[in-house]
Amino acid sequence: MEQVDDNDISIRAAHYFAGILGLSIVRRWYHDGAFNEARLAELEAVLANRHEFPHSLELQPLEHDLLDGYARWAETYDGHNPLIAAEEPIVHELLAPLLGPGVRALDAACGTGRHAAYFAAQGCEVIGADQSAEMLAVAREKVPAGRFHHTDLRSLPIEAGSIDVAICALALCHFDDPADAVAEIARVLRPGGTLVITDPHPSAAMLGGQAFFGGIVPGEPMRWVRNHYHGAATWLRAFRGAGLEVVDCREPQFADVQATSTPAYMFFPEASLAASDGLPGLWVWELRRPE
Ligand SMILES: C[S@@+](CC[C@H](N)C(=O)[O-])C[C@H]1O[C@@H](n2cnc3c(N)ncnc32)[C@H](O)[C@@H]1O
Repeated sequence: MEQVDDNDISIRAAHYFAGILGLSIVRRWYHDGAFNEARLAELEAVLANRHEFPHSLELQPLEHDLLDGYARWAETYDGHNPLIAAEEPIVHELLAPLLGPGVRALDAACGTGRHAAYFAAQGCEVIGADQSAEMLAVAREKVPAGRFHHTDLRSLPIEAGSIDVAICALALCHFDDPADAVAEIARVLRPGGTLVITDPHPSAAMLGGQAFFGGIVPGEPMRWVRNHYHGAATWLRAFRGAGLEVVDCREPQFADVQATSTPAYMFFPEASLAASDGLPGLWVWELRRPE
């Protein structure tokens, strides 16, 4: 058995497993005694074997600020991501009828140009903006015809009222308060123009969700940049302040997909599924600037 120093405060898989098991019991404690007992037995096994693999696995995720984090993440960002897999079909459903030749479409905080590439495929004139040079480099390669600005979202070098359709995807979670960024995107939108915002849902906070990356290659640490989870009141205040109307709001649930993508699922599938059962994973807001 591995010797563990009493002063060792590293973050271990056992901590995460115990949390998921506890959360799964909380979700069902009042109506499923058999489930609770089965999870308690698993929890006892985690505690009894906490200094053995896989419970002893050191995770120790490293936090990065936004610029450093996305500089490191840019090369691998376009890999599989369950959040993105759930988000894209909804965004396409909402925006497809509005896109086509002659439409000026903005991908705000475009990252590696995921939505910019979709806009280009629909024949739109594509504009992108992001503060990460490394993410933008991937976007520029992906969408050679696009015009990309290296800028903060809160000061877009774009003429007021000049954009027909805009998206800001999975980025406003990086702001303490999204109001200034929402107002800036609204400024460049033409009257009657549409903005779609997607963002991780606050329920992700309950599951310990952050913007994690890395940690796949042995010896390479897991890394993360911080998400701030915005509730409905924060969003509605930001939209009102920016003069935007809410057309639609979706809160898609894909808890099963999320649960099966976590490391805990391999060892504790029932607990992983129960912990996230019924929780929405995303906000998808459809907004319009009034005529
Ligand atoms: C999770 S990525 C999302 C990228 C892309 N929208 C997508 O959905 O694939 C978040 C992006 O937001 C960008 N970002 C964060 N804060 C920003 C800011 N203040 N101004 C501009 N871009 C920002 C980051 O550089 C990063 O590329």
